[in-house]
Amino acid sequence: VHQLTVKDIMAKYHRRNPISMVTAYDYITASWAQNANSDMILVGDSVAMCSLGYESTTQLSLDEFQYHVGAVCRAPGPAFVVVDMPFGSFERSISDGIGNAFQLLHLNPKVQAVKVECGLSQDDYSLEYIKELVRRGISVIGHIGLTPQRVHSLGGYKAQGGQQSTDAVALYNVSQTLQQIGCFGIVLECIPHKISSVITDKLHIPTIGIGAGPDTSGQVLVQSDVLGMLPGHKPKFVKMFADFKKDAVSALSQYVQEVHDKSFPHIGHHTFKVNDEVYQDFI
Ligand code: KIV
Ligand code: NA
Repeated sequence: VHQLTVKDIMAKYHRRNPISMVTAYDYITASWAQNANSDMILVGDSVAMCSLGYESTTQLSLDEFQYHVGAVCRAPGPAFVVVDMPFGSFERSISDGIGNAFQLLHLNPKVQAVKVECGLSQDDYSLEYIKELVRRGISVIGHIGLTPQRVHSLGGYKAQGGQQSTDAVALYNVSQTLQQIGCFGIVLECIPHKISSVITDKLHIPTIGIGAGPDTSGQVLVQSDVLGMLPGHKPKFVKMFADFKKDAVSALSQYVQEVHDKSFPHIGHHTFKVNDEVYQDFI
């Protein structure tokens, strides 16, 4: 199967066709995303919360993440595959961060790009790091706005850039810098739609929005949100396209009930036959 490339993604962007991206965390969710024809699959560090039960993406180790990246990559299909650089995997030093990016790429040849969360100051370390990745020929997507790895310094999970004009300007400026240092795309997370619309307009690389309105070049959602897999708070920007949790619990309850009342398994539908002679000898 031909896997979409950066060139294909840019061609779609230049045709002004919206780009679709969804997260995947393992072989199953990646197979679904591939079968659904998503342009891009993101192995997000949201795997920490959405699959592993952690409270924050900051708790995810690179080794744990690798295990999930490997499983996603074993699902065949044409989607462009992007992986997050998890918290702590790139901040210690440039050489440490470069080494970890190469490790992810070495072990998973299907991975075509990495995504890096960025702060809004022009001297943010992430910008230096991205520059060094790009210099080495690694394709990078920047991520600005609500960057969950920085939840503490941002003061919680909340929309960014809508309260003070300096914040909106900082978002704009860093989007320009990310383009300048060679990112081929930028994720905009939880940014007022009018701000992300202007940011998108002024760039010549695609923006992929989550909680950033309809005017970004593409959209990304977390698969467990799309499918309604998890209980609990649903962020405002999420549209739940299915109710898997409800369907799963109902199906499993029925199974448990049928085990208890012995209506499953059914002799005939779910059983194997034994040759009569074999059976006579056996007893
Ligand atoms: O980890 C993730 O799922 C993400 C998306 C929300 C963009 O970074
Ligand atoms: Na992420």
